[in-house]
Parts: sequence; structure tokens; C-alpha cells
Amino acid sequence: MSTHIGASPDQIAPYVLMPGDPYRARWIAETFLEDPVQYNDVRGMLGYTGSYKGVRISAQGSGMGQPSIGIYAHELFAEYDVQAIIRVGTCGGLSEAVAVRDVVLGVAASTDSAMNRPRFGDVTFAPAADFELARIAADVAQERLLPMVAGGLFSSDQFYNPNTTIAATLARYGVLGVEMEAAALYTLAAQFSRRALAICTVSDHLISGEETSAQERQESFDDMVVMALESVVRLHERHGH
Ligand code: HPA
Repeated sequence: MSTHIGASPDQIAPYVLMPGDPYRARWIAETFLEDPVQYNDVRGMLGYTGSYKGVRISAQGSGMGQPSIGIYAHELFAEYDVQAIIRVGTCGGLSEAVAVRDVVLGVAASTDSAMNRPRFGDVTFAPAADFELARIAADVAQERLLPMVAGGLFSSDQFYNPNTTIAATLARYGVLGVEMEAAALYTLAAQFSRRALAICTVSDHLISGEETSAQERQESFDDMVVMALESVVRLHERHGH
């Protein structure tokens, strides 16, 4: 057991898919994993382990925001020896280069968070995805004809951002979507020398005002989960754990 996860070390797989919403962790487990077993319900942050194409994989909710994902990712890396975490989430579209339902593969994550100040002082660390995992996921998306765009994410500490010009500024610098977790996840993966990737479907668009229906969100979420699961299988074939 770790402080926030009530599992023994062998109950969590080396690979974890991590949605923000714990009910989505349950959905992933019940829909895509064979023989899923729930290992956590502390604070309702559901976690399950099962298998996909013979590979043991867990699905663990992260909650919303960088402090929350920071707690779960830290404990998974530090106390459960997790090797790779793929965040499967949603983001708001910032750029005309993406439309709703596209999947943003987050190669890097800018942030307005002060979370890294205690680590790096005046240096601005650049949280980035694991290159090999990102390349595998891009290949999977291409083969499956999924509408994937690779680029930067903006991990904001504010869903209701009082800074109304920052979205346009970041879009001008090539940032594709805004969400609230990737930068903390990438930083922790770097701290523990593990792999991380965030893939996010564009659920709403801050420039065009486009939104998705609940059914569209579910379908694109399912596509993204399969993309993540297939990527884990390939990573496992290459490296095994
Ligand atoms: N802001 C932050 N996170 C999000 C958004 C957003 O507009 N849409 C989906 N996740």
C-alpha cells in the first residue's frame, strides 16, 4: 500500500493507462481488459489491472490537475515500479491546426504551474514525452487512420483562466491544446527515468467554439484507448517487463 493507493506491489502492472476520471478507468477495465481486478478505491480514485493481448496493463484514475496526477504518478513510479504511464484524456483545442475529435499526441507540455520551481529554481525545465513511446503511438495512430496531430500541450492550473490572451499566444507558438496534467506527469517520468506520454482528444475548441456530443466523446475516447493499449503491447514486445 502507498499513501493514496491501496494495492500491494504485485497488483499493479508495469504499464498504466491514466484517465483523469476514475469512472473512465473503470470503463477501460470493463470494456478493454480481460479479467480486470479492482485494486483501489481510496478516495474513489479507481484502479484496475487486467490484460490486453496477453500483456498486463492497469487503468488508474488521476483526478484533475497537476497536484492530483502528481500524487498518483509519483506513487506508481516510486512504490509500484511502474515503467510507463499513458495519460488518456481530453484537451481544449487552441490552434487552427486541430479540430474537435482529433487526438493530440503531446510531445511537450508547457505550463503555468509553479510546481517545478522547487526542483529547478530559475531554470525552466521542458517536460517532454518519451520519444520511443510517442513514436510507437504515432505509428499506431497512422496505421489505424486515427486523426492524430503531434505537438505541444499547455498544462494549465486553471480551467477557468482569467488570462484571456494566453491561449492565442501559445497557439502562435505551436501549442495545440490545453489540459491540466501532462507537464507534471512528464516531469515525474523524468525524475524516475520512466516513460510517459499524454494523448488527448480535442473535446472542445477555444477558438472555433466547436464542441463534441457525449456520444462523439465516447467514440473518440474509445479510439484513443485502443491507440494507447496497442502502443503498450508494442513497447512490451520491444522491451518486456
Ligand atoms: N481547459 C483545460 N482542460 C481541458 C479543457 C480546457 O478547455 N478542455 C478539456 N480539458
